[in-house]
Amino acid sequence: MNSFIESIDFFKGNNPEDIAAKYGTPLYVYSEDVIRQHMEAVSKVITKYDYTANYSVKANTNLEILKIALSEGINCDAMSMGELMMLKKAGFPSDRIFFVPNNVPDEEFEYAIDNDIVVSLDSLSQLEKYGQLVAKKKSGYECAVRINPGVGAGHSEKVVTGGKKTKFGIAEADIPKIHEVIKKYGLKLVGINQHIGSQFLDPQPYLDAVENLLRIARGFKDLKFVDFGGGYGIPYHKLDDEAPYPMEDFKARLLPILDAFVEDYGYAPLFKSEPGRFCIAEGGIILGRVNAVKENYGRTYAGTDVGMNTLIRPAMYDSYHDIEVLRNGKAVARENMIEQNISGQICESGDLIVKDRMLPEIKEGDLVAVLDAGAYGYSMASTYNTRPRPAEVLICSDGSVKVIRRRETYEDLMALF
Ligand code: LLP
Repeated sequence: MNSFIESIDFFKGNNPEDIAAKYGTPLYVYSEDVIRQHMEAVSKVITKYDYTANYSVKANTNLEILKIALSEGINCDAMSMGELMMLKKAGFPSDRIFFVPNNVPDEEFEYAIDNDIVVSLDSLSQLEKYGQLVAKKKSGYECAVRINPGVGAGHSEKVVTGGKKTKFGIAEADIPKIHEVIKKYGLKLVGINQHIGSQFLDPQPYLDAVENLLRIARGFKDLKFVDFGGGYGIPYHKLDDEAPYPMEDFKARLLPILDAFVEDYGYAPLFKSEPGRFCIAEGGIILGRVNAVKENYGRTYAGTDVGMNTLIRPAMYDSYHDIEVLRNGKAVARENMIEQNISGQICESGDLIVKDRMLPEIKEGDLVAVLDAGAYGYSMASTYNTRPRPAEVLICSDGSVKVIRRRETYEDLMALF
């Protein structure tokens, strides 16, 4: 593929050069159409039984994006009090929010309790703490526990969240202790959840984990829900025609596993999943300006305003993001490619968005578009080197362009002192 942006008309007829001129760079640009398509796809993973997709908002908590999720009818899961507050601000009713935190103080549980938000406890000590807090309020309080199924998967060791080497969840061997704590505080265990890791394009590890969690679920009585977690991948190498997550194949293979469970268990609890990246990654790109081009001991660097402060994923996980070079608002053809690096403005050698990659020759004044930046992009951006964070704009379905977060200013940065 020469240009993803042009193949789907990401900008809906707007010229990226005009958008960059009007809103400045670096700039996060989102497509409402692409986001809605992905949210709709995850809401149909299971159709035979009661099912909800919980958009995992850590991937992107922009208020307007949460409002899109709200209007698509999908629910959300939150990891922190800040995420809970954003969801309330976006208009989510409490019964569409699932709180899946770890290692939190009383204050965060109290916020959830006061707002009637179901919580999943990630350790026996958090279950104890939660039990003590709710015992003061009323009995029979509903909660869930996060199980660590002993297996994990993901694009980097840093994002594997199940298995014997992670901090997450309660080990299967400790399930008898879960029952003890539940009984001690008169809690009602209504759900179990897991999340094995992030960004897999082969559904097999997830299917294995579903089967495993359902095996564990058989040991719990009267469950209202079983939540399989997120992790569905997206094709970060789309310009090289990488295939997307095989959603239809996945659904077909998931169903018999659910059928077998429902038959054994006697009824179908609500099934849930928690996709973050799949909902939002492909719906967001970053536009950056090339401010300098240089050769340093035989290597070529395009120096842009997109660095590790804007997008940490390449520096943090060696993640790959496709790049399109835009000149006069048009994608430069992917031919006559030469090996180049794309760096940002940060004072670290690791401040590279692209390392030694064959790309069309990049010139000063070009725009670069960093694809698949909608997930874990802005939500992990920082003000390192005292650079304000970028603005975010949405290309709405009607083609209009809306600022959905203003650019941070130097005054914002000073305001904390
Ligand atoms: N549920 C739980 C409990 C999670 O911890 C996560 C992600 C998700 C759902 C959503 O996973 P997803 O569908 O997005 O893969 N910053 C990393 C990814 C970290 C994911 C952490 N947990 C990255 O940029 O690749």
